Amino acid sequence: MSLLALSDVSVSYGPLTAVRNVTLEVGQGEIVFLAGPNGAGKSTLLRAVAGVLAPSQGKITLAGTPTAGLRSEALVRLGFTLVPEGREIFGSLSVAENLAIGAYLRRDRDGIDEDMDFVLTELPALKPRLRDPAGLLSGGQQQMLAIGRALMTRASLIAIDEPSLGLA
Ligand SMILES: Nc1ncnc2c1ncn2[C@@H]1O[C@H](COP(=O)(O)OP(=O)(O)OP(=O)(O)O)[C@@H](O)[C@H]1O
Ligand SMILES: [Mg+2]
Repeated sequence: MSLLALSDVSVSYGPLTAVRNVTLEVGQGEIVFLAGPNGAGKSTLLRAVAGVLAPSQGKITLAGTPTAGLRSEALVRLGFTLVPEGREIFGSLSVAENLAIGAYLRRDRDGIDEDMDFVLTELPALKPRLRDPAGLLSGGQQQMLAIGRALMTRASLIAIDEPSLGLA
C-alpha cells in the first residue's frame, strides 16, 4: 500500500484551476521530487494533501485512508507533515519551543528525546540557539528549524515545499 496516493486530483481557487488531473503515488521509503516553474501549482498540490485546500475533483488517500474532510491535525495523526513554503515558524517562541510543538501530539517521552537529539545532531546550527526567539534566526536557520520541527512529528511522510530555500 502506498503512503500517499493522489488519483485524478484537481484544485481550484474560484474560477482558476491551479492543479489539473494529477495522479501520483509515494511509497514507504521513497523520495519523490516535484518540479515545475513558478506558478505551476506545486504549493497548491501540497496544500491540498495537507488538508488546507479541498480538491475540486479526485481523491487523496494517506496510508489507505481517504483524506476528504479531514483537517490538518487528523492528517498529522495519520503520519503526514507539511513544511510549508515560507516556513511558518513561531518567531516569538524559542527554538526549543518550536521543536517541541512538532511533538505536541506525541506521548512517547523517550522517543521525543531521541528525536530531539537526532535533530540537533543533523542540524547542529540550532543547538546553540535553543533558548533564542526563533524570529532572530537567519533565513536558512529558520528553514533548518522548520525541517527540524517536522522531524519532531516522527511522521511517516514529510512534504517539504522548497526544501533548499535559504540553505547553504
Ligand atoms: N491563494 C490563492 N488564490 C488564488 N490563486 C492562487 C492562490 N495561491 C496560488 N494561486 C495561483 O495558483 C497557481 C499555482 O500557484 P502555486 O503557488 O501552487 O505555484 P508553485 O508551483 O508553488 O509556484 P512557486 O514555484 O512560485 O512557489 C498560480 O497561478 C497562482 O497565481
Ligand atoms: Mg510554491
